[in-house]
Amino acid sequence: MGDTVLYERKGKIATITYNRPESLNAINGQLREDLNQSWETFRNDDEAWIAIVTGSGRAFSVGADVKSFGENQSKNGTFWETPSLTSLESGMEIWKPVIAAVNGYCLGFALTLVSACDFVVASEHAQFGFPEVRLGIPTIQGAVRMPDRIGWQNAMELLLIGERVDAERAKEMGLVWKVVPHEQLMDEANRLAERLLLSAPLAVRATKEVARRGQQLPFSDAIRFGETMRKVSRETEDAKIGPEAFRNKSLPEWTGKE
Ligand code: COA
Repeated sequence: MGDTVLYERKGKIATITYNRPESLNAINGQLREDLNQSWETFRNDDEAWIAIVTGSGRAFSVGADVKSFGENQSKNGTFWETPSLTSLESGMEIWKPVIAAVNGYCLGFALTLVSACDFVVASEHAQFGFPEVRLGIPTIQGAVRMPDRIGWQNAMELLLIGERVDAERAKEMGLVWKVVPHEQLMDEANRLAERLLLSAPLAVRATKEVARRGQQLPFSDAIRFGETMRKVSRETEDAKIGPEAFRNKSLPEWTGKE
């Protein structure tokens, strides 16, 4: 793994950082590989329960590296293959909560990543946009996710007009959860992560998976799937620890064990 993306874990919180600040964290082939690797690491790291994704320097990420367009095309496979789901933004299933801490420009493929995050905390300096149409190319995963996430008209504003919007407009659209002063961004994201850690990790993952799959299933199938997940979750250690802690008037110490 290269150093264009950093993966750091403190306690149960993993921080994934786009790290090509000299190019405003533009996503070239190397960064894409490092990003894929980071999400894979997070998904498989039993000690990591929450991820925060952010950018180093003055941008979150400006999206695809336009200067390297045309290079490494073969890595994405041919037109006739379904793209592999190698990273969170391109469909990797991660049921642990993911928080985006958006510190500056968040454009194109970086906004696609944000559209797959559960919470978006934004610096007052953050700007969001899908400039792809102004480069003559469509946005795909962002177009699939955004209407559901922020409503049709807001999604079309971002996707078809291709202009950047500021943090306040992004909050109004429902894309951003909270806008904070720039210097408080990481503290706020970590505070949110700490609040999430008060919930049992496997129950959190089951709930997120039911919420996500439930949107794609007929209602009765979604409920059947959810009830099955509940039965499985009831067998976990944490499902015993939670009620016990309640009875003892103490704080539960979650194990995250099946
Ligand atoms: N790909 C490659 N390099 C990029 C880049 C991108 N998407 N966006 C910015 N950079 C580079 C710039 O070329 C510049 O490098 P240089 O100093 O070697 O010329 C450096 O990052 C700083 O960018 P700059 O344009 O000077 O900063 P700015 O604050 O004035 O403007 C943006 C920032 C994001 C508004 C502007 O750079 C921009 O519009 N970038 C393109 C965004 C884009 O189209 N993304 C692709 C989505 S598919």
